[in-house]
Amino acid sequence: METVVSGIRPTGNLHLGNYFGAVKAFIQMQHEYNCYFFIADWHSLTTHPKPENIVNNANTILTEYLACGIDPDLATIYIQSDVKEVLELYLYLNMNAYLGELERTTSFKEKARKQPDNVNAGLLTYPTLMAADILMHKAIKVPVGKDQEQNMEMARKFARRFNTIYGVEFFPEPASFSLGDRAIKIPGLDGSGKMGKSEGNAIYLIDDEKTIKKKVMKAVTDSGPTEPNSVKPEPIENLFTLLEIVSTEETYNFFNDQYNNCSIRYGDLKKQLAEDINAYCAPIRERIIDFSNNKEYLAKVATQGAEKARESAIKTIEEVRHIIGFRPIGK
Ligand code: TRP
Repeated sequence: METVVSGIRPTGNLHLGNYFGAVKAFIQMQHEYNCYFFIADWHSLTTHPKPENIVNNANTILTEYLACGIDPDLATIYIQSDVKEVLELYLYLNMNAYLGELERTTSFKEKARKQPDNVNAGLLTYPTLMAADILMHKAIKVPVGKDQEQNMEMARKFARRFNTIYGVEFFPEPASFSLGDRAIKIPGLDGSGKMGKSEGNAIYLIDDEKTIKKKVMKAVTDSGPTEPNSVKPEPIENLFTLLEIVSTEETYNFFNDQYNNCSIRYGDLKKQLAEDINAYCAPIRERIIDFSNNKEYLAKVATQGAEKARESAIKTIEEVRHIIGFRPIGK
């Protein structure tokens, strides 16, 4: 089975955009690949050096992953900082990563601009840490969004460079795995763009019925179509996209017909949409609550995941040491 690795930075709760954009695809992939899904808590130190809530955040993501259906018996799910071997590989990769190429990456430049008082070395070497995460398990596929393409190119470059420098065919070059049809882009409720935490337009999996309703009722609309069968402007199209995902076909068609004959009342559509989003999320929400009350289970999952991830990591790092030339003294 091919190996897949993907990491998520623990920056808060999962929202519908995360769920339909990635997590749902992960759930499918765990049946088809040897999956390693991890929580990138070290990476989050590059932007949040004082991690008051780093443990909480990792806990939250773990809980929500499980509630969504990531199955620790199928996939290896772990916390990055539980696998110290990653740091050793990070160090080796950093020895062959050059200042110029690291400085040139767009994400470094962007973050350096955003936090000019904290342009730290971790930020600069973010791509080597990410490469270490991936190469550690010799993954050949990495499901990531477009924004990670440059980091993926770096990971391939570091893999190739390692192989060339040491004259081996050790690390496979990891391909970016476009989630393609498996992922659905969830629009925001503010009329444009996609749903995101920083956009402030997200519905979280943990949101209760009242919160969902409040957010949906506030969604941007217009004064309604005046011509039959008009093209839907983006904010309206967005509501229909959501409806298509969470509602039945009948419901979708019902409102679509109303739109087409100009009799639609957005208030009714939103009410239905809120109800259907709630119905979709309720079982996940209940599992989130159940799991978060079961610390013992969470601890067990994290321990078991770390053990499985370390097994693969130790194997790689031992071979890497041997390739580089580290041998036990006296042997
Ligand atoms: N950089 C990724 C992001 O911000 C998170 C990440 C860290 C990752 N290490 C990874 C993703 C390894 C895939 C594989 O989304």
